[in-house]
Amino acid sequence: MAHGRTDQAAESRGQTRQVLTRIGVVVAGYLVYVLAVSVLPLGARAADALPANSDAQVLLGQRVWRASGCTSCHAIYGLGGHTGPDLTNAYSRMGEAYLRTVIGKGVRAMPAFELSDERVDAVVAFLKHADRTGVYPTSSAFAPVFGVGR
Ligand code: HEC
Repeated sequence: MAHGRTDQAAESRGQTRQVLTRIGVVVAGYLVYVLAVSVLPLGARAADALPANSDAQVLLGQRVWRASGCTSCHAIYGLGGHTGPDLTNAYSRMGEAYLRTVIGKGVRAMPAFELSDERVDAVVAFLKHADRTGVYPTSSAFAPVFGVGR
């Protein structure tokens, strides 16, 4: 009888170990899964958010903006020249086609610029970026001084 009880105890210990092993496998598997779903898509999402080269294009546009002297006559966020209007929100006020025409052909006191298509695309991308990331005038209190968009 005593012998039987020992066998039973050993058997139930074995079962307990088996159950614990299974729980361990399930928990470990779950942790691997959680790690995989939380870490793997991060790279994919970051890559999806930014179209290829969009950053590089905006940076090129900023260089064109400086090199062509746009900033001597135009301001972004109110900073820059004031011969022409502030262009922070020019993109949404005028649209892309008008911007291209003005840059390429000039208008009144705005000189025409002979820039390659790549450079025009870049400066338009730069103006689009400025439009998306900022608003100028920042408050209507500035409007009587600079005029809306000036
Ligand atoms: C010599 C000064 C000068 C330079 C340099 C200059 N602009 Fe202008 N720009 C003007 C003036 C002045 C106007 C306003 C023309 C008008 O409507 O009478 C203007 C107008 C514009 C407009 C239209 C704005 C509107 O409200 O109609 C855009 C867009 C523009 N410029 C972009 C540029 C870009 C981009 C560059 C650089 C490649 C540049 N400008 C360089 C003087 C300049």
